[in-house]
Order: sequence, then C-alpha cells, then structure tokens
Amino acid sequence: MSYSNSSNHANFSRRGFLKTTALGGLAIGASLALPSWQIFAQNASLHINKLKIPPLETGRIENGVKIYDLEIQNGETEFFEGIKTKSRGVNGSLLGPTLRMNNGDIVRLNVKNSIGETTTMHWHGLHLPAKYDGGPHQPIKSGETWSPQFEIMQKAANFWYHPHLMGKTADHVWQGIAGMIIVDDEESKALPLPSEYGIDDIPVILQDRRFGRDGSMEYRPTRHDIMAGMIGDIALTNGTLSAYFEASTNLIRLRLLNGANASIYNLGFSDSRNFMQISTDGSMLEKPFETNSLILSPGERAEIIVDVSDGKTITLENKIDVNSGSMGGGMMGGGSMMGGNLDFKFLEIRPASKLKQLTAIPNQLTKIDWIDEKQAANTRPFVMSMQMGPMMMLGIGKSHTINSKSMKMDRIDEIVKLDTTEIWEISNSSMFAHPFHIHLVQFQIISRNGKPPHAGEMGLKDTVLVHPNETVRFIAKFETYADEKYPFMYHCHILEHEDAGMMGQFLVV
Ligand code: C2O
Ligand code: CU
Ligand code: CU
Repeated sequence: MSYSNSSNHANFSRRGFLKTTALGGLAIGASLALPSWQIFAQNASLHINKLKIPPLETGRIENGVKIYDLEIQNGETEFFEGIKTKSRGVNGSLLGPTLRMNNGDIVRLNVKNSIGETTTMHWHGLHLPAKYDGGPHQPIKSGETWSPQFEIMQKAANFWYHPHLMGKTADHVWQGIAGMIIVDDEESKALPLPSEYGIDDIPVILQDRRFGRDGSMEYRPTRHDIMAGMIGDIALTNGTLSAYFEASTNLIRLRLLNGANASIYNLGFSDSRNFMQISTDGSMLEKPFETNSLILSPGERAEIIVDVSDGKTITLENKIDVNSGSMGGGMMGGGSMMGGNLDFKFLEIRPASKLKQLTAIPNQLTKIDWIDEKQAANTRPFVMSMQMGPMMMLGIGKSHTINSKSMKMDRIDEIVKLDTTEIWEISNSSMFAHPFHIHLVQFQIISRNGKPPHAGEMGLKDTVLVHPNETVRFIAKFETYADEKYPFMYHCHILEHEDAGMMGQFLVV
C-alpha cells in the first residue's frame, strides 16, 4: 500500500474495515484461524493513534523507603474503535506505569493481585534477593498483596516488570501485564542527554499481538505457537496500535524494550538513517554506537537517540531481512525465527516545524569494570534444544530443554558459590534463535562462536540472543544474596519456550 505523510486519514474509516473483517470472516467460512494480518495489517500501518506514554511513578517516601503501589487488574482496552477488548494491566487496563528509581534507593513494591487468579511479579534485570525476585516461587494469590523490599544496586539503565508464574508467564504477559523500570544514577543524571519524560525521553514498549475477528486478544496458542513462539501480526507500541509521536526536539531518546512474547525485532527507521545506541540491558554503553539497525530479542532493552533535525517523518519499524526469512512460509509459517520477518510499523515520528535544539551526545557515557576472564572459577555449559520430531508434534515428552532437562520447580539444576566469578557458555543446538536470560546478575559477553561481541553489545546484559549453532560465552560475578532455599531462574525469554520447559534454577550458596 502507499502511504504518504500528507495522506488524509479522515478518508480512512475503521468502521469500514471492521465491516471488511466481518466479510472476511464469511469468506473464510468456518476456519477458526483468523488471518488477522490480512485484514488489519494494511490498516495498522496507518499511524492514527497518538503514542500512549505510560504514567511515570516515582514512588512515595516513608521512613526512608520508596514505596510503589501496584495493582494487577482486569480491564478493557479500545484497540479498535467501538470494540472493547478484554485486557490486563497494572494500575490500569493495559501495561503499567513506568517506575523510576535511583541507584541506592531502598524500594518497596506493594503488588496487589486483583485478576482473579494467581500470578507473580518479577523485576527483570534487577539485582535482588531470590525471595523478592517474583519468579515462580513467589506466587501472589488472587486478592493478596505481596510487598518485596530491597535496595537498588544497578548502573543507570532500563529494566522491566512482568509476571513469571510457572506455565503461565506467556499468557499473563500477552494479556498486557508488564511495565518499564528506569534506574538513574549520579553519572546518568549528569549526562547532557534528552531527559524530559514523554517529551524527548520516551519509553517504548514493543510488542505484537494477534486479535480474534471479534477484536479479542485471548491467549490461545496452537502447538505451532508453542514451538515457534506466539507471534502476532499487529504491532503495539506502549499498547498503542498504529502509533505516532509528535517530536518537539531535534534529538529524541527512545528507551526500547522488547516486551513481545516471542518476536525478535530487527529495528531501524523507514529511511534507514543512522541512530546512536547508548545503552544495553543493564548499563549505558561506554561510548555511543552509531548504526542503522538494532536486533532486540524478547526481554532485551536498548536506548537509542535519533536525530530528526531534517524535519522528515520517519517510522521505527521491524526491518524485513530477506536473509533471515528463508525459513518463513514453510513449517515455520512466517514465524520470526531470526527476526525481521514481519512488517511491523511501531512508531511514526513526526517532527514539528520548529524543533527545540538539544546538545550533541557526549562521547563518554559511562565506564564499565570489565571482568578479566582469568577471574572465573569455572565455566558452566548450557545447551538449549528443542525436539522437533513427531513426539513434539503430538505434544509428548520434553520438547524444550536446557541441558536435556525441562524445568522442574522442585529440582535445583545449578549451584553457584557465593563470591565467585563464572563463565556461562550457552549453546543452541536447535533451529530457532533463543534469547537466554539469567536472573540476579548483569553479565558481560565475552564471545560469540569465539569472536568478540560487536560494539552494541559492549555493555551490561541480562539477556542475550543465541542463534542456531552458536555458542555465546559470558562472565558474571555472583557476589551477594546467597540463599539456600530460594533459587533464581535462567531461561529462554521466548515466553512459550519458557513455559514449555526451557528454564532451569540455580542457587547461590
Ligand atoms: Cu523477564 Cu525470568 O524473566
Ligand atoms: Cu528476569
Ligand atoms: Cu527459546
């Protein structure tokens, strides 16, 4: 379809397209699989909705503790005009507030569960005691409030929160329970970077969803979805469908979070312009990294700064990569095996005619204490695999494993000694790329198949994409929070894979 900046959106009637939906429904007759991409995709690429900015929650202070009140709730969201879609959120009907905190803060998060079923709340990427981690061992029953309290011990970066109930993570996240956490430190506050929340410093939660013909967003994965991951056909940006943002400054800072269940995004702008990547999952990069594409797999974060001084309207999109699309269409049915197979238009950025001029990006953003490989007490191997044979198709047996084991709540897989440095060596023997995530620590990537990581990965990380036939080695220090009882998780962050067993548990003792 053709789309120009000056196109008259008044001509476009969403009611019209919903009628088309009904007709489309008739045309495919009794078929239950609604190919919503055929019906919505064209329209979803028209940028008709103003980007929603999650409310900023900075907490209230009581006796030196910063307190955040969060209520996980059921609600309804109007993605399509006139249609109320059941959804879930935190302090609202979809997604949740951006929690802002400082390194060194003591925080307490009061998490009330009002969704009518058990869930959990995990603080992805934060360094904290295992019993406050919000993983599968910290269920919050319906009607209950869970109040973990811990110290923030992080470099400035973006983190996030989402449910992590055994076997239910994918479902609960899909329905809308997730939000961003921004941690600031003295160093980051002193940097001359765009920093006006919602104006030139924007949280951008990237997701995709599949909608039923009635507009529903229920989580109903097929066996294929469990294998490939639940990939939608409609892009949602901060929960906004067909989002646009009006820029008032020449430089815009985007705090990108891949909050999708399974899609690996290959992000770039419509005109392939360069931008500056300034952070990774758990820290700033030491120096800005100039690039025109950024691969972000589920769970990963990165901040970028884009210059729109030329006043051109641009779109942040999933760049379709022909090389990675080779497996699409067949058995993998358009799934995003390697990223970049689906035409997601996440956010149109429209610069105002007069732009406030912000200063250039500094050359030095932070300093990272690189860990010497010689400090490692041991190397721990992990192999992620998937059995794709007939057993898997029938749903029999362990299909998604790490070291040939599928997750068991009552089995500890690894024991790490407190005060040691370890190298973890993650291999992928399956046909799918898997984002490997570890709780508790931020790590440093040493190598990918023996080669050093590229500049955009030279920061602290808690999630790393491991491609088929690849081995990624990373190093981390396990310095605090020993606990004989409560384990931490490591897992694939494709939530369907995690729920299907591609997860393990480690104790720090
Ligand atoms: Cu973002 Cu163990 O999770
Ligand atoms: Cu996590
Ligand atoms: Cu996986």
